[in-house]
Amino acid sequence: MKKTFTLLTITVVLGLAYSGCIYDKAELVYPQPATCDTVNMKYSTDIVPILTANCYVCHGGNASNSGGRKFDSHSLLLNYVNSGKLIKAITHSSGATPMPYQLPKLPECTINKIKAWVNRGAPNN
Ligand code: HEC
Repeated sequence: MKKTFTLLTITVVLGLAYSGCIYDKAELVYPQPATCDTVNMKYSTDIVPILTANCYVCHGGNASNSGGRKFDSHSLLLNYVNSGKLIKAITHSSGATPMPYQLPKLPECTINKIKAWVNRGAPNN
């Protein structure tokens, strides 16, 4: 009887330990969202790629579908930084038409990268 109880206890303890391992592995299989690096955001290597992927189709080159609102250079973009429209538009805040136009908000991390760059004074680096 005592032996059976001991065996049962060991089985339960091992079972718990093992399920703990499975849980750990599940965390590896479904990782938590990676941390968002917003340190020292650069215009050339951080901001331009975001705008290229999400905005220039309407706001760059010869695009004519944004009512002439072009900002595919640093100096043009500064107009929208300084007026506050850039951040208002991408955060879907009042005072600007939400961007990207008629599409869902950019991912949180992407918005935070642009905010971080603006907060550093929107350098042309
Ligand atoms: C599908 C085309 C399209 C895309 C993609 C797009 N825009 Fe726009 N954007 C427009 C149009 C059209 C307007 C003018 C809207 C209006 O006047 O109501 C505009 C206006 C703006 C304005 C001025 C807003 C205001 O209220 O004055 C900003 C800033 C802006 N866009 C930023 C962005 C950014 C940043 C992105 C990318 C994240 C982006 N847009 C993506 C079409 C687009």
